[in-house]
Amino acid sequence: MACCVKAVKTCVQPMRSKLLQMVPQMCYVTAATTDEFRDAKPFTSIPGPVCFPLIGSLYTVPQLIKEKNANDAKAVETLHRYDGKYPRRIIIQSWQDWRDESPYARGIFIEDGSAWKRMRVLLDKQILRPQIVSGFAEQFGQVTVDFIQRLRKLRDENKNTVNNLDLELFYWSLESIGTVLYETRFGGLSEDRDPEIESFIEAVHNLFLSTNYVFYLPRKLNHLFLSKWQKMHDNAWFVIFREGRKRIDKKCMEIEKELSEGREVSGLLSKLIASGNMSQNELYSNISELMAAAVDTTSNTMQWVIYELSRRSDIQSTLRDEVLSVVSRGTAPNAEQVQKMPYLKAFIKEVLRLYPVASVETRVTNEDMVLCGYHVPKDIRVIAATYLLGRNPEYYPDPLEVKPERWIRNTGNKKVHSFAWLPFGYGTRMCIGQYKGFNMLLQEFTIKAVDDKVNSPVTRALLIPERPVFVQFVDRC
Ligand code: HEM
Repeated sequence: MACCVKAVKTCVQPMRSKLLQMVPQMCYVTAATTDEFRDAKPFTSIPGPVCFPLIGSLYTVPQLIKEKNANDAKAVETLHRYDGKYPRRIIIQSWQDWRDESPYARGIFIEDGSAWKRMRVLLDKQILRPQIVSGFAEQFGQVTVDFIQRLRKLRDENKNTVNNLDLELFYWSLESIGTVLYETRFGGLSEDRDPEIESFIEAVHNLFLSTNYVFYLPRKLNHLFLSKWQKMHDNAWFVIFREGRKRIDKKCMEIEKELSEGREVSGLLSKLIASGNMSQNELYSNISELMAAAVDTTSNTMQWVIYELSRRSDIQSTLRDEVLSVVSRGTAPNAEQVQKMPYLKAFIKEVLRLYPVASVETRVTNEDMVLCGYHVPKDIRVIAATYLLGRNPEYYPDPLEVKPERWIRNTGNKKVHSFAWLPFGYGTRMCIGQYKGFNMLLQEFTIKAVDDKVNSPVTRALLIPERPVFVQFVDRC
């Protein structure tokens, strides 16, 4: 199919075709103009890989980012225009299976329909609102101060390099999300790490690693042929929920105590509980999901940020000048101050364009639509290749060049198509945790490359660097 939207035909497709024949023609008119549908080529004529029984064409997903498909932001736009009230992603079957067999409810990552909407609205109110994110600036700042201190401790005195930067960034991410979810710190950046926190970090890592293997086959077959990975996967979820639940229970007890002593309570959990619209079980699931979702996504993005900074001293000094023109050294900017840092925002956009941790975005169509000239019926799985879109010269001249100027108005650059940059997804189902905070690193260090070797992205469920980023952190006087 000559566009970045790839329809995944599965074994259930023949059944769907039969069902479609029963759908009255009028339904099509609501999705696009009648002309568009009349001229569209049939779904079955989409060129693509061979579909096998049971697995359909899912085996092609790992190769997706290597394919030389052209990209089409217009098709992605169409796909999202029909997201409807309850957008659906392609489910990660192994995640859903574990949850459904466990005593825990589905959270927003896995749930669909009206149950998803109810929980999502509640979480949006508490997490996505700018004034709420802004309220955490001080806490995020403190986490980064501790992270900087830790880098100094771990740093090789002569070479200024830090081993296992990827692992340290996992802890930095976890500490940051801990301040939002529980208004607490886990001690992940201290000398003596709590072994339970270490087991949580390992579990999140193992979850993504094992998902890479157990994604394709049904649970029973995985137990048979890939039992090592299936065990790792199930154990990872078990530990994630064990740790999440423990912290939620502790926080709930603290809230109860405060209330019983007549004191006011604030914070995400107390607000969710007070809403009366989320069961205890849903609370366990949503909070554990958020805790897990925050770690690898943010830390891998930070690795790319550090990698690109180390290779571009010019960008680094422009960024540093901008940051220090708004806040004094050692201060974390609040949301209002970040608004005064257009180059910083543009640089992060560039990094996410080139290295979107979620290299593809998925939807299951909620109605019929025409994509790239093909009629795509309802209930079809569609994959939009975020990674390819971000590297398409049609939208980004010199796509492999990091050029923050692309995103800055009045620099003569053509406005980028809104659907050619989707690292956080789109619409009501888009990512709920878009916070970032690395500017303080710039205030303290000059980040330098140790060599000119290129570090390429590879997919391990998420898009991650082939090798952990290894750079010098040189103190600024
Ligand atoms: C650089 C960091 C991150 C990136 C690039 C990222 C990317 C994404 C993407 C592409 C989606 C799918 C959106 C869609 O289907 O339209 C998503 C969903 C989600 N993300 Fe993130 N994410 C990041 C950080 C986080 C963090 C820190 C959290 C937790 C606080 C988080 C929690 C979630 C959740 C819960 C969903 C599911 C939302 C839903 O289905 O309603 N993410 N993320």
